[in-house]
Amino acid sequence: MEKDQKQIISDFDFNTDLGDIISKKSHLISSLYAFAKKFENFTYSNIYKDTINFTIEHIKKIYEFDEGTFINYNNEEDQFFIQGKEIAYKIYDSTPFKPDEMLNFAKNSLTITFKIFNEKIIGKISKKPISSHIYIPIAYQKELFGFLLFESEKHLDINSDDISILSIIASQMAFALKNAQLLEKIEANFLDTINSLVSAIEIKDTYTKGHSSRVSFYTVNFAFFINLPKYQIKSLEISALLHDIGKIGIPYELLNKKEELSTIDFNFIRKHPEMGEHILEPLEFLLKERRIIRHHHERWDGYGYPDKLKGEDIPFESRILALTDSLDAMATDRPYRKALDFRNIILEFKKCSGTQFDPHLAKSFIEFLEKNQQVIRRHNET
Ligand SMILES: [Fe+2]
Repeated sequence: MEKDQKQIISDFDFNTDLGDIISKKSHLISSLYAFAKKFENFTYSNIYKDTINFTIEHIKKIYEFDEGTFINYNNEEDQFFIQGKEIAYKIYDSTPFKPDEMLNFAKNSLTITFKIFNEKIIGKISKKPISSHIYIPIAYQKELFGFLLFESEKHLDINSDDISILSIIASQMAFALKNAQLLEKIEANFLDTINSLVSAIEIKDTYTKGHSSRVSFYTVNFAFFINLPKYQIKSLEISALLHDIGKIGIPYELLNKKEELSTIDFNFIRKHPEMGEHILEPLEFLLKERRIIRHHHERWDGYGYPDKLKGEDIPFESRILALTDSLDAMATDRPYRKALDFRNIILEFKKCSGTQFDPHLAKSFIEFLEKNQQVIRRHNET
């Protein structure tokens, strides 16, 4: 190890052309500036994933590494793992990462650890022969998030200046990850607030107790099934939880009426998407969700409400809510009928595909339900 560390700090070559050094340094400084600028532009909803991906790509490019990855560190279990695509939202495809001698050293010292091998070893990322690798700890005030690991087939020339630059990049990345972590906490608090608003609707509407959270559950799962990005899933989750918030404005007697509803009653209940949009108006950051909520009762054939939008004029997310909202309505007992069984639910979606529902989305939704029959929750299970 000592030998490797010496290698890092003692390789200044006085024979190297000074012009080359200056041009390399100015390139590094401008790339560092571009790096910092890029960080400012990340949208908050994707900050964790973007920060990691961008840092990996940036370092790979400037130092010509062949491969790079982020090894997450789980402090509670003292374990390392590498995550797949959905880094920030949920851990879907994480694989354990077995620490080696170098990683252990980097973890204990929290220093950047670079090594050149005389004989090639098999890379941990590429699984191909490599000649050098580097571990870069990402830590914020001793709180370790993980390590960036880069590998190269060639003997890479990394000197002490490069190590200084990598340290700056690492501390910027750690700062951004810390921000992302705090933001996730704020989002969790925000969802708690939303849930209390949802309880306010459900106190009034006894027949749909748990409806919003079940619709949200179906929506999030289906959104994952069709590989929507994280920011869209978040937005769908909030919209699903709040889609019936407008029912707060509908009298208790009407929502819980046991007799058949008159046309006047129906027309009044049909005002709830607009009322929902109106209730959320003061919350500027829910602009997109307000639109999704307004249109969750539109129909693909244009006979829905409130705006009789047709086909792709209906927001994509509202078309998803139309499916998940109907699923919950069919899968739960109502005062005027019993819950439908799975086979009849599927038949209903097939029948209404292209009229009530977007036919492409309905096809995927049926596929989703057939593969995940167990996701359907009954009224009394929530
Ligand atoms: Fe609704």
